[in-house]
Amino acid sequence: MKSLDIPLHVTGRSEFVDDIPVPEGLLYAAVFTSPIAHGIVKKLDVENALKSEGVVGVFTFKDIPGQNQIGGIIQDEPLLAEHHLAFIGEPAAVVVAESRIQAKTAAKKIALDVNPLPPITNPREAFAKGKLIISPRTFAIGDVSNAWKECDVVVEGRVDSGGQEHFYMETQSALVVPRENGELVIYSSTQSPTGVQRIAARVLGLPMHKIEVDVRRLGGGFGGKEDQATTWACLAALAAFKLNRPVKLVLDRRDDMKMTGKRHPYSSDFKIGLKKDGTILAYEVMFFQNSGAAADLSTAILERTLFHTTNSYFIPNVKATAACCYTNLPPFTAFRGFGGPQAMFVIESAIRKAAEELHVPACVLQEKNLLKENDTFPYGMQVENCRARQCWEEAYRQYRIDDIFKDIQTFNASHSLKKKGAALMPICFGISFTSTFLNQAAALVHVYTDGSVNVSTAAVEMGQGVNIKILRVVSRTFSIAPERVKIETTNTGRVANTSPTAASTGSDLNGKAAEIACNQILERLKKTASELITGSNPQDIEIRDEQVLLKGQQTGLAWDKLIAEAYTRRVHLSAHGFYATPAIYFDRSVERGKPFAYHVFGTAVVEVTVDCLRGTYDIDAVRVVHDGGKSIDMPVDRGQVEGGIIQGLGWMTMERLLYSEKGQLLTDNTSTYKIPDIKFTPPVLDIHFLENSDNSKAVSDSKAVGEPPFMYGIGAYFALLNAMQAFKPGKPLFFNSPMTPEKVFQYLYL
Ligand code: MTE
Ligand code: HPA
Ligand code: MOS
Repeated sequence: MKSLDIPLHVTGRSEFVDDIPVPEGLLYAAVFTSPIAHGIVKKLDVENALKSEGVVGVFTFKDIPGQNQIGGIIQDEPLLAEHHLAFIGEPAAVVVAESRIQAKTAAKKIALDVNPLPPITNPREAFAKGKLIISPRTFAIGDVSNAWKECDVVVEGRVDSGGQEHFYMETQSALVVPRENGELVIYSSTQSPTGVQRIAARVLGLPMHKIEVDVRRLGGGFGGKEDQATTWACLAALAAFKLNRPVKLVLDRRDDMKMTGKRHPYSSDFKIGLKKDGTILAYEVMFFQNSGAAADLSTAILERTLFHTTNSYFIPNVKATAACCYTNLPPFTAFRGFGGPQAMFVIESAIRKAAEELHVPACVLQEKNLLKENDTFPYGMQVENCRARQCWEEAYRQYRIDDIFKDIQTFNASHSLKKKGAALMPICFGISFTSTFLNQAAALVHVYTDGSVNVSTAAVEMGQGVNIKILRVVSRTFSIAPERVKIETTNTGRVANTSPTAASTGSDLNGKAAEIACNQILERLKKTASELITGSNPQDIEIRDEQVLLKGQQTGLAWDKLIAEAYTRRVHLSAHGFYATPAIYFDRSVERGKPFAYHVFGTAVVEVTVDCLRGTYDIDAVRVVHDGGKSIDMPVDRGQVEGGIIQGLGWMTMERLLYSEKGQLLTDNTSTYKIPDIKFTPPVLDIHFLENSDNSKAVSDSKAVGEPPFMYGIGAYFALLNAMQAFKPGKPLFFNSPMTPEKVFQYLYL
């Protein structure tokens, strides 16, 4: 699989923050954090840490020259705790020393005297006590209260889904280098260079132009570095600013797991009503989001939950309410899907419960209620270019799904201690940031005199392949060899006011901005070419495979010659492109609008085998038909679909976060928190991209691919339930992910 970084990765030469050659005089930072989930600080004593060997400085909130405030959407989060402690792992002091070990050793010598208070870890309890970040929001369409009496069956239930650790390979890291006149260069492992720049400026009381943020690549982000890289960059920046020396802060794995936020756990109540024929008439749901101790991105994530209430189905009467509940856990944050998966798990659970009541297979209800062209979502948008049914039908054809279910029945009839199960999982995911203003991007393209090209955009490479996609867009737009193009680091000095690389929009937005910049240069080059070729018009000129063509005929003028000529004729060989997604809006006062440029569709079928003696299981196969538009880079898209599926399977099955009642994360290392590995990966992972799929709403007819495939993994939960019910026919279903082997065992025997 060829991606730009692969040769560097496999030879260990790709540079991450901790690999940047050490600048003269570098100091290392370690963070002292709250040992309790809730309490009041009586005394924070840093004297012993200051006296510790190699220590150069210890900083608390009192040392912050600007505002002690890192909240992005809502300003409710201090960089360093003051008098109130809100979660275990909340930074309270930063220790800086000549070596990493010295800094860590000194941080352990800080003494904290506290008055503990009872912590809240459960979102329903927080809700009952009125601990909410914002007033609950409701999306509604039709009239649920009147619809219930039209229904032949109405079922209710409760659904819980667990959080998820991002487990990016590169932990949170920052290196800050002071330059002349109080300026700082910050190398940060962040999805949001401008976010780091803005908040660091706020904390230090500096104008943003004094701070340059530079990002080469991330060893994974998955949403965990959309907002939460900022803390570590700001702590290092504070120390570097105070001491006027370079400072590096790299979290070790356990600290990263303890201190940083994860996917939001949700607890939800649903009620669903259907006609006898399986048509869903009404759906009511209440989402309790466990937001953690600060808002972070929780309100935006809640909004995306509401947008995905009905997944890939049309339901005429819907009422969905959602609440952001403050608890004393580390602030939960963005994670692939951004609240969408949590909503989709609930509607899929509701459908299973209804199917049980109606004595029909769940897939009959799923198929019956799939979205059709021009159906209206509960937020008022009509679905366009709906490919829900096309993907579903293609999956049935491609994978002979009827046979899969028949084979499972045959297998189960002849095996008493092994049971197989299967489930379908259709997805529909909205593409665009739900905060409309974030849907903008810029690119800066330079053509050098030798004909090589340098491209800067707002996009951050985190393994998702955005750089190779932008490179291909540039090479195609100019019609030059890919080898001529280089993608630069993401730098706030070259491209300003960057939205985070998130919401799967990285290549949609930045690819388009790069294309716009290239086209400006191309126009100028065509004019130059027409001046060089006597009697020709710019509109008859075209560049193809590095050759200038006139009315489709070779002219003998090549790309590098053209560039050299353009330069001597003083033609501008650089351009800045800007793109903002057109025609999207959302009005929160009525919860109506057209927030998404388009939707991504697909259908997965997941097959499992449960060992009914042990409760262990295998995911045998995941087969997918995915609507990927026209792929800009097929190996990258395939990799994104595969990776998303595996990560989704992990969330649904084995990745369990366990907190004590005191709010302490008990699963804070690889020995207690298990992520999918190669042995867990299903032996059959078939991905079929819908053929002849187009998409006029994104660059080169492509479709965003980063997040949607994650949600195919949800099918695994229901495939497991399906197998478990084959062993325990008639036993009530339960909806509480992840479905760990312990839970399977308990269902089978307790
Ligand atoms: N793939 C890899 N390898 N590493 C990542 O960190 N992040 C995911 C997805 N795929 C991620 C990834 C998330 S959460 C998002 S929003 C998108 O990539 C962001 O990149 P894109 O917008 O360029 O697709
Ligand atoms: N996705 C990811 N990040 C975001 C979004 C979104 O929809 N809205 C605001 N930040
Ligand atoms: Mo992705 S959760 O939008 O970074």
